[in-house]
Amino acid sequence: MNFEKNILITGGAGFIGSHVVRRFVKHYANYRVVNLDKLTYAGNLENLRDIEDSENYRFIKGDICDAGFIQKLFEEYQFDGVIHLAAESHVDRSISNPMAFVETNVIGTVTLLNAAKSIWKEMSGKRFYHVSTDEVYGSLGDEGLFTESTSYDPKSPYSASKAASDHFVRAYQNTYGMPIVLSNCSNNYGSYHFPEKLIPLTINNIKNNEAIPVYGKGENIRDWLFVEDHARAIDVIFHEGKEGETYNIGGFNEWKNIDLVHLLCDIMDSKLGREAGTSRKLISYIKDRAGHDMRYAIDASKLKDELGWEPSLQFEEGLEKTVDWYLANQSWLEDVTSGDYQNYYKEHYQS
Ligand code: NAD
Ligand code: DAU
Repeated sequence: MNFEKNILITGGAGFIGSHVVRRFVKHYANYRVVNLDKLTYAGNLENLRDIEDSENYRFIKGDICDAGFIQKLFEEYQFDGVIHLAAESHVDRSISNPMAFVETNVIGTVTLLNAAKSIWKEMSGKRFYHVSTDEVYGSLGDEGLFTESTSYDPKSPYSASKAASDHFVRAYQNTYGMPIVLSNCSNNYGSYHFPEKLIPLTINNIKNNEAIPVYGKGENIRDWLFVEDHARAIDVIFHEGKEGETYNIGGFNEWKNIDLVHLLCDIMDSKLGREAGTSRKLISYIKDRAGHDMRYAIDASKLKDELGWEPSLQFEEGLEKTVDWYLANQSWLEDVTSGDYQNYYKEHYQS
């Protein structure tokens, strides 16, 4: 079959990547969508079972840091566009093992940029899209929002590695004319979210009647966005975003961690038929994350005003949908929380 475009999506077996892959495979039959993923602990082909037999989809297992392999892949497929999501994504793991974040997030990104630079003799019609995080802006006080012109001030090894990769992407545009676009998004939630992160971890622990670990006093604030809204924003920016621009993506939806955990407890009690208040008793305040950023909040008005994107779901509705998904997909949850996860969990929470 002849495809109009070959699109490379990296990290497509992860949480957000799987939603982006699914959206592109379903919406763009004229694109060949190549999903490149190393399948680390966070990557799971189960996340894509529903589309794996699609004619316009291909999965390739590989490491974005392997320069020889990446170069051959670009030569073979002559990609027209790259949507780069592959990363080490968990802040707590970056605190215990920063080097893995330097390798994948920085060296892996530069490896992809080098391959694109060598293949794209003619840059017109090409696009390198780097999917990044609001954490590059650092931490807010009580007031204000991150805008696209907020200075970078990353504070964790994870955010430092994402900031470095953003800088490399922009430097490749400035130096070599690479046709780039970037987005910096707030906290996502939804289906296929790996249960090391607050929302799926809380759901899983409530389901198993285990303690819900809340760092510090639970007063840190995050801005939550439904993952399918993020995937839609990525689609819009990939197709309509202006070359060289950065777009902030957020949910206009700030929640204190403890308020969010309370809400999840109440939803879970009602879904599981438990007496109101049962799950709140599982909350356990534990030692704070080192260097814990206090507050993130995104001003996504540029994306709204220029490209017409807005979040589609109210948070309570999105959370309910998410809880329903986890309860309906308990074998997925059991699968990803067996094996290595148990070691991670014990080491991180019980030592
Ligand atoms: P994730 O951890 O769920 O998935 C990452 C994927 O990348 C996994 O499938 C993993 O196997 C793959 N991967 C890791 N190292 C690789 C390597 N060396 N080569 C190839 N593949 C590799 O992450 P996520 O939460 O889906 O985040 C995806 C991207 O979005 C990341 O770049 C992250 O920084 C960014 N982001 C995430 C959020 C969020 O709330 N989760 C918010 C904003 C931005
Ligand atoms: O803002 C975007 C970022 O959001 C992404 O770039 C990251 O990839 C993604 O992991 C996420 O980072 P956070 O650190 O904000 O997400 P996490 O789910 O780990 O934590 C959310 C908040 O909950 C944070 O304030 C820490 C707190 N927390 C987290 C865990 C795992 C707890 O209180 N207890 C926990 O057990």
